[in-house]
Amino acid sequence: DAPVAFHGEHQAGIVTPAQDRLHFVALDVISKDRAELARMLERWTNAAERMILGAEAAPGGLVGGGPHKVPQDTGEAYGLPASGLTITIGFGPSLFDDRFGLANRKPVALQKLPAFRGDRLEAHRSGGDLCIQACANDPQVAVHAVRNLVRLGFGVVSVRWSQLGFGRTSSTSTSQTTPRNLFGFKDGTSNVKAEEPDALAEHVWVQPQDEAGAGAWMTGGSYLVARRIRMQIEVWDRTNLLEQEQVFGRGKQEGEPLGETKEFDRLDLDRTGPDGKPLIPTTAHVRLAHESQLGGIRILRRGYNFTDGTDGVGHLDAGLFFIAFMRDPRRQFVPMQRALAAKDALNEYIVHTGSALFACPPGTEPGQPWGRALF
Ligand code: HEM
Repeated sequence: DAPVAFHGEHQAGIVTPAQDRLHFVALDVISKDRAELARMLERWTNAAERMILGAEAAPGGLVGGGPHKVPQDTGEAYGLPASGLTITIGFGPSLFDDRFGLANRKPVALQKLPAFRGDRLEAHRSGGDLCIQACANDPQVAVHAVRNLVRLGFGVVSVRWSQLGFGRTSSTSTSQTTPRNLFGFKDGTSNVKAEEPDALAEHVWVQPQDEAGAGAWMTGGSYLVARRIRMQIEVWDRTNLLEQEQVFGRGKQEGEPLGETKEFDRLDLDRTGPDGKPLIPTTAHVRLAHESQLGGIRILRRGYNFTDGTDGVGHLDAGLFFIAFMRDPRRQFVPMQRALAAKDALNEYIVHTGSALFACPPGTEPGQPWGRALF
């Protein structure tokens, strides 16, 4: 649980081995003053640099400001270790409307996502001018980080929606074992991993040639797509094993491609069974999402399980908070989700209830606030 480096070419929290807990928040800017927004980002950077080390949000800590001042840190993470905390920020498409004179800095790839078949998006779980993704191995540490940044943004931003996640549903490094999602399947087997620099350059980091003009500041950054995907847990739990495995195209226990024996055996989409039918069905999730079906595109998945109580009619409000990072959502998430929305056998068991897109700027150097290149 050692601290994760804050500074670098890219923001932490993208290829960082996925931690176990998430607190994600989307915010709207309520101030009309661009300078005030830039000052808040400076305060956020200073606080984040401290918090990822396990320190309080400001040097005054809990009591250093004296009895008549509001404490500079809310206190609930005092004494807890760094817990692998990372804080990653992003800018939504709506930040680039006329309000702050940023329209001429809007990256071409930052276009609001289109509607997809089957979407049941709720406005209070979608969109946002800014986002903060806090990941840590202790939920208290992640929640503390978000809470203190929101406090430092008082009068400048207001919370639009937020999501807690309690178990990673992806591995982003070959050093990690593959976790499971709430359908009980291994998730993240065939993800883009930190140890694949060429794949990261091709699929995750924005390259200099991608954004010649307005969005040149995004070089070294990445686009974050968030989708709150509700799972029909009760329906799934009455579905037999054969159907469950056919939905994904992988085995439930080992996570092997159907017809193989081990998790990392090659996924051969051409293999057929004795009846001449493909072993991995034409509607299987892993077939439709596979790069060979999508002109070679891949994404880095970094989602979390969630359970937000019950829905009031006897069901768990549970699912997968899907987060993915990519170089250009128009060329990656959009065609991939279109293909899944059209045919994926999984659609019978899930529904997308929230959606957002953010441009996560590149990393910072010491003394340089988040988003310096933009403001
Ligand atoms: C693979 C589950 C939504 C993209 C997988 C695998 C599972 C899974 C179990 C196989 C293991 C692996 O390779 O990671 C789910 C569940 C979802 C969901 C339960 C919703 C609740 C999505 C969405 C997308 C997506 C929305 C993108 C639009 C992928 C990709 C792969 C994958 C790219 C790897 C395919 C390959 O190359 O083999 N998913 N997934 N998934 N999923 Fe999903």
